[in-house]
Amino acid sequence: MTIAEKAEQLLSLSGQVAMVTGAASGIGRGIALLLANMGAAVAILDIDEQGGNETVSEIRRQHGKALFLHCDVGSAEDCARAARTTIETFGKISILCNNAGVVIRKSVTELREEEWDLVLNVTLKSVYLLSREVIPHMVRNGGGRIINTGSGWSLKGGPKAAAYCAAKAGVLNLTRSMALDYGKDNICVNCVCPGDVETAMLQSECSQLGDDPIQFMQEAANRPLPRIGTPDDVAKAVLFLASDMSNWVTGACLVVDGGGLA
Ligand SMILES: NC(=O)c1ccc[n+]([C@@H]2O[C@H](COP(=O)([O-])OP(=O)(O)OC[C@H]3O[C@@H](n4cnc5c(N)ncnc54)[C@H](O)[C@@H]3O)[C@@H](O)[C@H]2O)c1
Repeated sequence: MTIAEKAEQLLSLSGQVAMVTGAASGIGRGIALLLANMGAAVAILDIDEQGGNETVSEIRRQHGKALFLHCDVGSAEDCARAARTTIETFGKISILCNNAGVVIRKSVTELREEEWDLVLNVTLKSVYLLSREVIPHMVRNGGGRIINTGSGWSLKGGPKAAAYCAAKAGVLNLTRSMALDYGKDNICVNCVCPGDVETAMLQSECSQLGDDPIQFMQEAANRPLPRIGTPDDVAKAVLFLASDMSNWVTGACLVVDGGGLA
């Protein structure tokens, strides 16, 4: 076998089944498309039915396997149902990407309590809710991969993003905690921490702050590799963590930010 063939084999997800939350748009859609391209059947979990079905159509157009499941990741019942349906449809879950998140650009004194709860529920509690459904199944199946989407703001604070920063720091340390608890079950749990990526979320942040879009995007691109990231930049890091390329990697934080935190 040549080195190129070996690398292709290590990256292949043929026979795997992935769940990706927040996969109706942005980074989640990028992750779902790449994992499907590499051979995984993918369950697309989101509250955006139209965007979710567009992701499914795109995967099927590229001859991949996908299924849309309406799931509010902040709801315990929705998470339980989505895990059940994925197993019934595709036979198992071997990769879980906890990616959904929401950002509200407000400081502590500006945030209403329900805004705090929304950000924490969708961005952090969801990781607990869905993982607790999927982990027992992975344990029975001999292992699996969980990849959580953190942020540069898992590692440092950001202005006017109090709830989001708290949630994303929580996602990273929850990742480490889960890695400790389930290593013995052959479940690897890792976190990707993206910098600014061109998605609806980044545009929403600009309008929430009332900033000039051109200036906002120029500032976001001001980093050692001087551009804004793409969903595919993040998806490639997730593929590494989902594949046999990373068999001895768990509890890690993979920063994908063009050097923004360097
Ligand atoms: N875009 C960035 O610059 C950036 C940077 C760092 C981290 N991230 C993180 O990447 C992840 C994806 O963000 P994105 O930029 O692709 O944003 P996005 O807004 O394009 O996508 C987020 C998706 O989550 C879905 N969603 C929202 N609430 C949900 C709920 N209750 N249940 C299920 N799905 C829900 C939305 O419908 C949407 O499809 C988030 O966790 C975000 O915090 C983004």
